[in-house]
Amino acid sequence: MSDRTSAPSTQPLLQPVQLGALKLPNRVVMAPMTRSRADNEELAPTALHATYYAQRAGAGLIISEGTWVSTDAIGFINVPGIYTDAQTAGWTKVTEAVHSAGGRIISQIGHVGAVSHPDHLGGRLPAGPSAINPQEMSFTPDGPKDTVTPRALTAADIATTIDTYRQAAANALRAGFDGLEIHAQASHLVAQFLNPRLNQRTDAYGGSSEKRAQFLFDVVDAVSSVWGSDRIGVKLSPYWRREPAFTADAEMLTDYDLLLKRLSDTDLAYLHLVGPEPDTGTDDTFTAFTRYRAHYRGAVIANLGFTQASGNELLERQLAEAVSFGAPFIANPDLVDRFTHGHPLAAGNRDTYYAGDAAGYTDYPAVTGSY
Ligand SMILES: Cc1cc2nc3c(=O)[nH]c(=O)nc-3n(C[C@H](O)[C@H](O)[C@H](O)COP(=O)(O)O)c2cc1C
Repeated sequence: MSDRTSAPSTQPLLQPVQLGALKLPNRVVMAPMTRSRADNEELAPTALHATYYAQRAGAGLIISEGTWVSTDAIGFINVPGIYTDAQTAGWTKVTEAVHSAGGRIISQIGHVGAVSHPDHLGGRLPAGPSAINPQEMSFTPDGPKDTVTPRALTAADIATTIDTYRQAAANALRAGFDGLEIHAQASHLVAQFLNPRLNQRTDAYGGSSEKRAQFLFDVVDAVSSVWGSDRIGVKLSPYWRREPAFTADAEMLTDYDLLLKRLSDTDLAYLHLVGPEPDTGTDDTFTAFTRYRAHYRGAVIANLGFTQASGNELLERQLAEAVSFGAPFIANPDLVDRFTHGHPLAAGNRDTYYAGDAAGYTDYPAVTGSY
């Protein structure tokens, strides 16, 4: 390992940064990760969640696992929500534990729209921008199932849905979070609206790139009315690849260029931008982040497949303000210490990524002492 990588004082990842109103002591962000431990009727986080997040309080910023804004938003088992008092009380214990350990945590809120399944919705059809099957998988209590053709959201449904984001934002504020991230990536509802193959609406929410982005702008406005925009982030990417609906073709990339330009005027704390999988063949990571930088004027948290070395290099090239790490945080609760002191990283057990109890969740040890 080079001196450059291991010297704490010179590593860009270990420098403080301010993103909007969020002050981070280092630039190592914990990416949002669904871990499916809310194994209770209420879908509320428990003391186990508080322990898990507090163990990771050394991160410059923790972004919580994606949490549901309503019962209609559900698309995976044992994932906590933030739409009831019991869930909000559970999250309050989590934020208190993280703050007591010296950390900062924001809530990621989301809705899977058409990628839900009748099994999650008491037999009802899921709803999306248009009645088009996204041809994804939904993880139901009986295991993974193919998605179905959803019903199209009505204008009234859209207004109600945006209101659930506002209410979730209010609950997150009440729970003591430091900010909020809108999950607009992967195959989530916002990404469905942004996608011309899944959004064939002819009203204010579809028909052009600008109109397909209207749902996201309405959600940003709704949650900003609760928090102020300088504590709000949005996780986005054109590179989510699930054919036939999601492919990073030229139209998608151009749509996102325009979207980033327009989001530059919203004074968000940050955009959390995900690069291409290394094998997409469309772009390499640094090229993608150069393109993002050309279109977005605000702060960027960069994600996907970063290592300590590539994260430091991206920051050195000034292509982002911070870097988020997902999988590395699962088995390395003290990831920042390991980067600081050059400790090797542990590998996580994939069998317990999305299932189980404390095993594979809170039992990964921190390295004690330093070299
Ligand atoms: C177990 C697991 C669960 C995830 N759950 C979420 C989630 O709830 N919300 C989200 O936006 N991304 C989720 N992701 C994606 C991560 O936030 C991140 O984009 C991805 O892991 C790539 O970063 P990495 O290469 O550092 O792991 C998840 C990833 C993993 C590994």
